Amino acid sequence: MRALIHWLSGPPEPRSFPYSPVLDEFHRTGKHFVEKSFLALLDSARRAVATSAPGGGDAATRQLTDFLDVALDKWDGRYDYRSYLALRLLRLPCGPDDPSPAAQSAAGRRARDRLLVRLVADTLAFELAAAAHTTGLLPQQRPGPAVVAKRCRLGVRAVSPALARLGVAEPVGAGVPATAAAGLHTVAGELVSPGDPSLRLSMLPVYVTHDEYLFIRVLQAYECIFAGVAEELRATVTALAGDTPGAAADRLGYAGDLLRTAGPLFSLLATMQPESFRTFRQYTEGASAIQSRSYKLVESLCRTPAVDRLDSVAYQSTPEVQARVRDGQPTVDETYRSAVSDGRLTGADAVRVTRRMVAFAGALTQWRRTHLRVAVRMLGARSGTGYTEGTPYLSAVSTAPVFAAVTTEAPTPDQDERRCA
Ligand code: HEM
Repeated sequence: MRALIHWLSGPPEPRSFPYSPVLDEFHRTGKHFVEKSFLALLDSARRAVATSAPGGGDAATRQLTDFLDVALDKWDGRYDYRSYLALRLLRLPCGPDDPSPAAQSAAGRRARDRLLVRLVADTLAFELAAAAHTTGLLPQQRPGPAVVAKRCRLGVRAVSPALARLGVAEPVGAGVPATAAAGLHTVAGELVSPGDPSLRLSMLPVYVTHDEYLFIRVLQAYECIFAGVAEELRATVTALAGDTPGAAADRLGYAGDLLRTAGPLFSLLATMQPESFRTFRQYTEGASAIQSRSYKLVESLCRTPAVDRLDSVAYQSTPEVQARVRDGQPTVDETYRSAVSDGRLTGADAVRVTRRMVAFAGALTQWRRTHLRVAVRMLGARSGTGYTEGTPYLSAVSTAPVFAAVTTEAPTPDQDERRCA
């Protein structure tokens, strides 16, 4: 409190904002229980920054503004999934005013891979620090050594495809899980590029339960994947509408691989202790991944949702995506049909694109089924934080066709098992 009062007594200089003591205050009780008097001071800080930089200011000012928006979401009464995950601080898509996608798709892919690796490496580093008693952060319901080892193994597995794409597969591959996780942490530190977002500012749990750290990082990691998949699907639509529709096959293939190879993230999340989840979720009411803009973009870029789905809570929770669909957002489904019926997509190219669509549909359906299984395990018959009836909603949407133009192969029971191992 003292550091913040001191900062407020001078000109509002974003570079000297006392982030560490403010984070400590949030971490001491969890965001839900931060003292109102402390939040009032942060609110004053926000006003001071806005007054001194009315146009948004430089990078340091924007970071502080974004951080204060995340810190003050409950105070403002606008706490939701995007503010819970601090998506804007991580530069992940979260609203209509998102920066446009990276001009260079290769640069965007690499930035997302780096972020994914850092997020998972960070959660494993937290597991190791907690096990070694070198951190007092989120002290309640610590997991035992076997669970920590399992998390390390699964986390390292979840990021090895991203590491391979970044050209750094080797350093973390071998060894006991904890050693591999420590190695991953070192590698992740070396991956940071100038301008990459700060991770520590994006961890504001609502309570003090250990497993909420894992929960937040896995959700953020999936947001990173969905953002990448949406990017690839947009490029797929552009390719299918253009002169070389066969190029769509590579983009679809990349999108499918992103989703498929991220499977161990769900296995990692499945190690969460259900009683821990049920403890901290009492304070996450109103924040649900049903508000994930990137996921709804993925779904609606594949195929235009049926009117009842578009009008339902599913799309009411992501109004900007709902508006895009109503404005006639082109989809993979319809551009594929046009490319085939116009005679632009034929022969071997058509076969390749069709196969990749089927494979992508399989990957997304698999994701939905695994999500459902994890949700059933953690939630049982409770309702969701996004105001649906919970798993019955997920069960109903898990079988929806991804594309209308091609069929979705049902995953085998064996694939289902492996996903949650
Ligand atoms: C403890 C684990 C999880 C549980 C219990 C859970 C539960 C739920 C529930 C009940 C819903 C329905 C909406 C609501 O009322 O909240 C939902 C929706 C959703 N969840 Fe999860 N979830 C979990 C993990 C995840 C993870 C790791 C992701 C990855 C980002 C995710 C992504 C989604 C998405 C995208 C939706 C919207 C689906 C749609 O509208 O079709 N969930 N989840």
